[in-house]
Amino acid sequence: MNDLDSKIQQIAQLIIDSENIIALTGAGMSTESGILDFRSPGTGLWEKVNPDEFASIHSYVSDTGKNLKFMLEMGMQIFKSKPNKGHKSLSKLQKLGKLNGVLTQNIDGLHKRAKTENVIELHGTAHEAICMRCHAIYPITKLIDQVLKSSSRSPSCDVCNGLLKPNAIFFGEPLNSDTLLAAEKMLSNCDLFLILGSSLLVYPVAFYPRKALANGSKLVIINIQETDIDDQAEVVIHERIGEVMPKIVEIVIEKLR
Ligand SMILES: NC(=O)c1ccc[n+]([C@@H]2O[C@H](COP(=O)([O-])OP(=O)(O)OC[C@H]3O[C@@H](n4cnc5c(N)ncnc54)[C@H](O)[C@@H]3O)[C@@H](O)[C@H]2O)c1
Ligand SMILES: [Zn+2]
Repeated sequence: MNDLDSKIQQIAQLIIDSENIIALTGAGMSTESGILDFRSPGTGLWEKVNPDEFASIHSYVSDTGKNLKFMLEMGMQIFKSKPNKGHKSLSKLQKLGKLNGVLTQNIDGLHKRAKTENVIELHGTAHEAICMRCHAIYPITKLIDQVLKSSSRSPSCDVCNGLLKPNAIFFGEPLNSDTLLAAEKMLSNCDLFLILGSSLLVYPVAFYPRKALANGSKLVIINIQETDIDDQAEVVIHERIGEVMPKIVEIVIEKLR
């Protein structure tokens, strides 16, 4: 058995032996669905654009038109995308009773489309728009239609005429406090924490592996690049999620038979 196969076996056994499994997923979960991540060398979005100029709440308010152009491009990748083998593997694990929930940094909605339940979207969703004044929520098509059809540079709320933005957390915005509480609660009870496709450089997620460890959970990391917490994990695999996760699920199914 080669090194990778033995790590895959070990992860499957950890899944069998655990009772409350939580996954944490980052942008690397969705690159195999055609959505670029932010920090992969060569392809990550931050090599092409400056995050301070785009995707910060300050830049959105001061130059909404320029920011919306960038966001629509990212949005189009998201709206065209489908759940990949990684998303489907997590959904299968959940059906087998081997995944309690998912904490995701992603705004693409692909876990829900793969029919995974108990998903906490820490950074919100690209599928909705929110009014910055009265917090009314709309389907994202409301914002897109205004921008594309009437070439509006400042899409507005029907209720109060406030500026609409995608209902995703921009740089410089706080995370929703109820969402954070729910995430911490999920984390506090898990005995296996599967970290998939996150550089773990963005807070609060960067704290979560240590919190899980402090609560007595074990860690598994599947990420192409190294992370700062690799040495704390039971098993680390530096391969693509879509290559590895289906194999793990297959072994779990065999072991459960
Ligand atoms: N799909 C999305 O919704 C999406 C896309 C881009 C960015 N974002 C946002 O950007 C922020 C970026 O943080 P992040 O830590 O999630 O992403 P990141 O870009 O910082 O890190 C992604 C990590 O995934 C790894 N990776 C890429 N493809 C992989 C694959 N197929 N298999 C395994 N690993 C893979 C990369 O090596 C990298 O370390 C998040 O806050 C998120 O909200 C979301
Ligand atoms: Zn409003």
